[in-house]
Amino acid sequence: KTIYLKDYRQPDYWIAETHLTFELFEDHALVHSRLAVQRNAEQGKKLPPLVLDGQQLQLISLALDDVELSEDSYQLDADHLTLHPGSAEFELAITTRIEPQNNTALEGLYKSGGMFCTQCEAEGFRKITYYLDRPDVMSRFTTTVIADRGDYPVLLSNGNPVASGEHEAGRHWATWEDPFPKPAYLFALVAGDLVLIQDSFTTMSGRDIDLRIYVEPENREQCGHAMDSLKRSMRWDEEVYGREYDLDIFMIVAVNDFNMGAMENKGLNIFNSSCVLAHPDTATDLAFQRVESVVAHEYFHNWSGNRVTCRDWFQLSLKEGFTVFRDSQFSGDMNSATVKRIEDVTFLRANQFAEDAGPMAHPVRPDSFIEIANFYTLTVYEKGSEVVGMLHTLCGADGFRKGTDLYFERHDGQAVTCDDFVKALEDANGLDLTRFKRWYSQAGTPRLEMNGHWDANAGEFRLLCRQSCPPTPGQTDKQPLVIPLRMALLDSQGAEMSLQLADETGSRGTETVLAITEAEQLFVFTGLREEPLPSLLRGFSAPVKMTYPYSRDDRVFLAKHDPDGFNRWEAAQALAVEVMQGLVTMAQAGRPLMLDQRMVDVYRSVLNNPELDPAMVAEIIRLPSEAYMVELAEQADIDAIHKVRETLRAELAQALHDDMLAVWQRLSVPQPYTPDAASVARRSLKNTLLGYLMLSESEEIVAACVRQFIEANNMTDRQAALVALVNSPFEEQKQAALAEFARQWQDYPLVMDQWFSVQAASGQPGGLERVQALMQHPAFNLRNPNKVRAVVGAFANQNLVNFHRLDGAGYGFLADQIITLNSLNPQIAARLMTPLTRWRKYDPARQALMQEQLQRIMATDDLSADVYEVVSKSLA
Ligand code: ARG
Ligand code: ZN
Repeated sequence: KTIYLKDYRQPDYWIAETHLTFELFEDHALVHSRLAVQRNAEQGKKLPPLVLDGQQLQLISLALDDVELSEDSYQLDADHLTLHPGSAEFELAITTRIEPQNNTALEGLYKSGGMFCTQCEAEGFRKITYYLDRPDVMSRFTTTVIADRGDYPVLLSNGNPVASGEHEAGRHWATWEDPFPKPAYLFALVAGDLVLIQDSFTTMSGRDIDLRIYVEPENREQCGHAMDSLKRSMRWDEEVYGREYDLDIFMIVAVNDFNMGAMENKGLNIFNSSCVLAHPDTATDLAFQRVESVVAHEYFHNWSGNRVTCRDWFQLSLKEGFTVFRDSQFSGDMNSATVKRIEDVTFLRANQFAEDAGPMAHPVRPDSFIEIANFYTLTVYEKGSEVVGMLHTLCGADGFRKGTDLYFERHDGQAVTCDDFVKALEDANGLDLTRFKRWYSQAGTPRLEMNGHWDANAGEFRLLCRQSCPPTPGQTDKQPLVIPLRMALLDSQGAEMSLQLADETGSRGTETVLAITEAEQLFVFTGLREEPLPSLLRGFSAPVKMTYPYSRDDRVFLAKHDPDGFNRWEAAQALAVEVMQGLVTMAQAGRPLMLDQRMVDVYRSVLNNPELDPAMVAEIIRLPSEAYMVELAEQADIDAIHKVRETLRAELAQALHDDMLAVWQRLSVPQPYTPDAASVARRSLKNTLLGYLMLSESEEIVAACVRQFIEANNMTDRQAALVALVNSPFEEQKQAALAEFARQWQDYPLVMDQWFSVQAASGQPGGLERVQALMQHPAFNLRNPNKVRAVVGAFANQNLVNFHRLDGAGYGFLADQIITLNSLNPQIAARLMTPLTRWRKYDPARQALMQEQLQRIMATDDLSADVYEVVSKSLA
């Protein structure tokens, strides 16, 4: 059943207070709820039926104002409990019985290992009790948890702990009270045998906050980084947004079985353990950064999401786009802002652009959905963050802050829309953002075609912009958007020239933001003494596909001289894309692959530039991913792309061998491990170079790689060596390293996830057979989402050449896993569909094979709404 944004109406009833009591047992749980319900006066005086959401619940008892209801006075179906109130204000008492131990969907109340935990966003609360499970119904919650004291000494819920005590038969109880009204999706409960890491934070107004991270005992030593990240996030949100924490206690709990990264439940964030635990011995630098950003993201939700929440789920990007923007700003401030931006843009272009070009394309604010869980997408999160970023650019940092201050002040305690957010920015800045708002409603990646014309006599440079947007499912006509274009003009020395527009009086300095608002628009720069080379879309100031008729020599110039670090990377990246696209055409024609020496030239100059941040060097010499090349292709020839990329890597490694070796040796001097940004940058470049150097297949390098594997004093270096070995032809060293790694880390699930994914993602021949063998490994478990992602996900998303093998066996394998998971965990099953949704990108033979698997999934009995939505839209 499809739900539409245009059908939104306020609820008929509100729930002022929610009192919950959970009795937890090994084979079931009883949930007693008492709800203070009121007629929503804005919807009139008549008393319509009260329709509560509820799924997979056993109703034990139901009373209205303490009178037990007879079975003929209410109606039950698979999704609802309907009753007929006799007054505008009443109390409902409901008891339901559920079986958390059998909940493999990991939505609602479930068991992960030995603990009870919850995931309610978006619509999981209805699997706990009958309720108005929608974000505009905000209620004050009081929660009591009762469980066996021995097995579940720790009992947690939202808000502040107010009372606890002994119960009968070795059981105990605890009561939590959350003073802030919240929608049910922010409810959380945890019961388990957990240890606690504790710290404190003094807020800007001088309040002391008790900070706690709860984990299973064996993970006690791995929480320091998350705690430090939390304190930095709290300080940063005060300084940059003026936002202070509001409860006396803030808790994070790590669980092993979790569908997503983490969840911002009020005062009790629940995390996938992969986004909390980090220790140099077990986690890579990348994992450290992920912990920092996810801890920040969930913490920031306390304001952008919890204090001000979403009116309905179509507004999801209101909290997610904004919060992703906030966490990226934070990560940029904590580390290198340019490198963070490069990482984000790389990710967006390879993944969100592909979503925008496929059958699941939707606007940042979708118009309709079948299953909301399918809309926790790259478009809502990442493109949503880009949209907020453009607003930040258009308002300026100070104007943006004024706007967010107004937004928080105006809407504190409310459930609002993306329009309300933009309105606050408009009102605070005296801006009209009407046309800009098309970014929220229009799907697809806009094209921005730029052209330049130099008039030497007039000293004028004319910049012509033409924008368009390809059609997406259900949206054929596209309107022009407001596109902020950050740019500069460079002289022949690479210096920025002063910018004077023909129709303006003052100069714009040497860098400016042009607001492109029309389908076609001309900007004329005057007073120029020589022909400029434009540096366009700096910092990727809008999520568009921009073209400009640069020559390869222009790109080389920009890669070496653009004063803007991001665009230096962009120029090298675009050069590599162009070279690779040319090589793909050569490969398809059966011609020998000729390397453009200009790439060697750029890479050499970058490698030998002592001024450059090593992390930047690593980013610049990393070739565009296969996934990005697929996205850019009209019809992707994955075999040619793979071959070209591997050949190009080998050629670069050969041509630059001496330069790479020298830098690598300089960076490989053993050093005590430190986690600071400079050390992370050095490791990043060192290990990128190791990957290249291993392609020379020299005995010495292989020996050095094995040595790095054995002697590394941190997981970043150890894992990089393992990756290099696994992707090399040195069978003996590879098998030895894999065996040693598994022996050493078999009891660390998160480290074993790395062991799995390194192998599943390896483009070496026989990938499918390898993955099938990995699924037989004792550490593999289809019920654990992290394991599914590490093996099945890594294979289908990162190992394109093996996944797309010509006989279609990769597709059949993925479909098998999706069909199995459809009944175990629909959300995870639906997410695994992504590679199959891209079938139109491939050749007719592969298209047919992929469609065949989509048909097979479509014909499966008891298809979940999650999988049904993706498969039916893919075949439409
Ligand atoms: N709000 C969470 C976050 O972004 C994500 C929870 C999504 N859960 C889900 N079942 N789709 O931080
Ligand atoms: Zn979020």
